[in-house]
Amino acid sequence: MRDLALTMSGVEAGYGGGLVLQGLNLELERGTVTCIVGPNGAGKSTVFRVISGLLKPRKGSVLFGGKEIGGLSPGEILRSGIAQVPQNRALFPEMTIHENVLLGGYAIRRDRALLKERLAMVADMVPMVVERAREHAGNLSGGQRRMVEIARALMLDPALVLMDEPSLGLDPKSVAKVAELVRTMATGGRTVLLIEQNVRLGMNLATQGVVMEQGQVRLTGDAAGIADNPEIATMYLGKAGKPTT
Ligand SMILES: Nc1ncnc2c1ncn2[C@@H]1O[C@H](COP(=O)(O)OP(=O)(O)OP(=O)(O)O)[C@@H](O)[C@H]1O
Ligand SMILES: [Mg+2]
Repeated sequence: MRDLALTMSGVEAGYGGGLVLQGLNLELERGTVTCIVGPNGAGKSTVFRVISGLLKPRKGSVLFGGKEIGGLSPGEILRSGIAQVPQNRALFPEMTIHENVLLGGYAIRRDRALLKERLAMVADMVPMVVERAREHAGNLSGGQRRMVEIARALMLDPALVLMDEPSLGLDPKSVAKVAELVRTMATGGRTVLLIEQNVRLGMNLATQGVVMEQGQVRLTGDAAGIADNPEIATMYLGKAGKPTT
């Protein structure tokens, strides 16, 4: 039997009167990387909002570790082990890298020993957060900022990490660093769900590929197969042929 970290079944969700997700089904196997691709407005980020509790599903279920999380608050979902690195989430520029990372451990701030343990774990995965701990986040390059954002998301030791376009706006070297970190997370047993515009990069990192269109999953399967499918490349993925690292 497959060991599923997350199962979404028949999920409907939207904003105001409009429905964006129209019966979405998605299964994530524990310790693997899944990449969602699809055109602008397909509902990719909306899937993340539903998983992280920012948007309540109107129908369907979201099971995390076998437990329904569809009705929980964002705080409860975060503490249950799901962290999100959102699209363009800003760090606090006046605060140091260390302080920014500490914010990710806010929920465990009273447990000094645990906090210390988590800081060590995060430093092991993202060494620059200790190497440059006292520097202001505002002075960092885009790639360095992204690493700090990921480090912050790792502070609660999440079992599932959601990353919305982690390579966006980064130079190739930084993209390679983010990719390496995603691989480290998965080998460490975490489940990673990525949204990527850079299809080659995303499918390279992933084992499972998901193509979304108009609030539904159009295709799901082996990531390598999706990256190589010329029909999909021309139908949905204008940037498929773009060279990547
Ligand atoms: N806060 C909101 N209020 C109203 N409508 C929204 C909101 N956020 C998204 N939408 C709409 O929901 C649909 C899906 O948006 P979503 O952000 O999930 O798409 P996406 O696949 O992530 O697109 P992109 O590739 O541009 O990031 C779009 O039609 C969008 O206009
Ligand atoms: Mg989006």
